[in-house]
Amino acid sequence: MQSQIVVIDYGSQYSQLIVRRIRELGYFSKLYQPGELKETGRPAGIILSGGPNSVTEKDAPDVDFEYLQSLNVPVLGICYGMQLLNKKLGGVVSKSTTSEYGPASLVVERQDTLLEDVRSGSQIWMSHSDTCTHWPDGTSILARNGEGVPVALQFSEDFYGIQFHPEVTHSEEGTKVLRNYLRMVNEEGRFSMEAFKQELIDSVHAQVGDKTVVCGVSGGVDSSVLAELLHQSGIKLHCIFVDTGLLRKNEAEEVVAQFEELNIAIDLVDASEQFLAALAGETDPEQKRKIIGRLFLDVFFEHAGDIEMFAQGTLYPDVIESATSGSIASTIKTHHNRVDRVLELQAEGRVIEPLSELFKDEVRALGESFGMPRPILYRHPFPGPGLAVRVPGEVTREKLDILREADDIFISELREADWYDKIWQACTTLLPTRSVGVKGDERSYERPISLRAVISEDAMTADWVEIPFPVLRRISNRILNEVRGVNRVLYDISTKPPASIEWE
Ligand code: XMP
Repeated sequence: MQSQIVVIDYGSQYSQLIVRRIRELGYFSKLYQPGELKETGRPAGIILSGGPNSVTEKDAPDVDFEYLQSLNVPVLGICYGMQLLNKKLGGVVSKSTTSEYGPASLVVERQDTLLEDVRSGSQIWMSHSDTCTHWPDGTSILARNGEGVPVALQFSEDFYGIQFHPEVTHSEEGTKVLRNYLRMVNEEGRFSMEAFKQELIDSVHAQVGDKTVVCGVSGGVDSSVLAELLHQSGIKLHCIFVDTGLLRKNEAEEVVAQFEELNIAIDLVDASEQFLAALAGETDPEQKRKIIGRLFLDVFFEHAGDIEMFAQGTLYPDVIESATSGSIASTIKTHHNRVDRVLELQAEGRVIEPLSELFKDEVRALGESFGMPRPILYRHPFPGPGLAVRVPGEVTREKLDILREADDIFISELREADWYDKIWQACTTLLPTRSVGVKGDERSYERPISLRAVISEDAMTADWVEIPFPVLRRISNRILNEVRGVNRVLYDISTKPPASIEWE
C-alpha cells in the first residue's frame, strides 16, 4: 500500500476538507477514527483534526501518544489536535473565558518550517474555545494572533500545532501552511496514479478471484470508470444497463456505443414499459422515487440472477458521510443505492466498492489514466430516477417525449456555444401547468419548460450560471419553434440552498 497522510478525525466539520486539500497537494490521504491509528499502515505524516470536545474534559477523545511518537513522522495538530499534543507533551490547556470563532490575523514570528513564506497579517480562520496557556519546554512560538495569543507552535522537530483552520479558504495562507507541512514529509508520501491504479487492480483481484462480478452501468462517470477498472483487471464481468425509459434522448443507444468503444460487453435491459406503468397516476415526489428505486432493483437483480459478487461505484464522500454523521442531507431525498438487497449482499461479503477511496475528480483522473474518452469522464451528473424528477407531477410518455426534445436542444446548444464544460450540471424540467400563448394566429394553451444550469463542487450548494443572453435566446427560440406542446421557456435563477438542483 502507498504511504499516506493520515488524518485523525476528532469530529471537526472540516475533517474531510483536510483530506481533500492534502490530496490536492499531491499526497494520498484518508480519514481515520482516533482508535484506528495503529491500523493506518505506513503513514508518511499524521494530522490530528479539530473537534468540538475539550481536552480538559475527562472523556475527551484521545490519541495513542506512545505509538504516535514511535512513528517518527511529522505530526500536525489543528485546533483540538494542537491542544491534545500540547497536553500530551506536558503543556497546559485551559478553558478560555470567551470562544473565538471566525477571522483573525496571523502575526508571524518565525517565518520558517511550517510558516515559511507565509504572509504576516494574513487572515486566518479560528474556531475554538480552549487555549494552550503553557507549553512544553523547548516549544517555539511560530505565530500569534492579533491579541498576542500563540496560534502556531513547534513543539519539537516533528510535532507542530496550529490554532486555526488551514483547510478552509478563509485562511488566506492555509494552503501554504499545509504545503510547508508536506515538505517535511518523506517524499514517499507522494501520490502516484500508476502505483495507485495497480493497487486497485490487485485489490480487485484479491477480493474477486475467479468469481463473476455483476456491475450496474448507467453511462455516468462513476459506473463507467468502475466498469473500466474491472475490465482492466481482467476479471469475469457482467455489466447490466437498465433502460428505465426515463433517460435522455438517444441515451440508451449512446451508452451502448460508449461501451462498445471501451470494448466492454453490456447487457441492455429495456424495462421502459414497466417503469411507465408503475409510475402511472403517482404524483408524490418521494413515492415516485421509491417506485423507481424498487423497480430498478427488482429488474436489475432479476436479470442478474444469482450474484457471486456485486460491484458498486460508491465514492469516498459517501463513505465518510455514512460513517461520520446522521447527515440531514442524506435523508432529504431517498437515494436508491443503499437498499436492502445490497445490504444483504454486503453482509455476505459479496459487495466490492473499488472507488470508495476516491473523490469525484480522482475518479476522472483514474479514467483518464485508462485513456477513457473525455465526454464520458466530464459528463454532467444525472440523477438515478432520471427524467422522472424533471417531470413534477405524474410522469407520462407524452411529457417525457416533450422533455427529451427540449433537453436535447438545451444540451446540444450548450455544447455548441462551449458552455457545457463550464457548467456543473444542466437540467430541463417540464412544469406541471399550462399557460396561455399565441402560436400563429391561434391561442395556445401549452406547457412551460424550465432550464437550469448550475455550478457546484459537491452538489450540497450550487449557484446558477450566467449563461449569456444570446445563448439563452437561441435555446429558447429553438425550443419554442421545434418542440410541440411548449409555449414558454423559463431560466431558473435559484441558488441551492434554498432550492435544490432538481425540482423533485
Ligand atoms: P438536489 O436536487 O438534491 O440534487 O440538489 C443534488 C444532485 O444529486 C442528483 N440527484 C440524484 N442522484 N439519485 C442520484 O443518483 C437520486 O435519487 C438523485 N436525486 C438528485 C442531482 O441530479 C444533483 O446532481
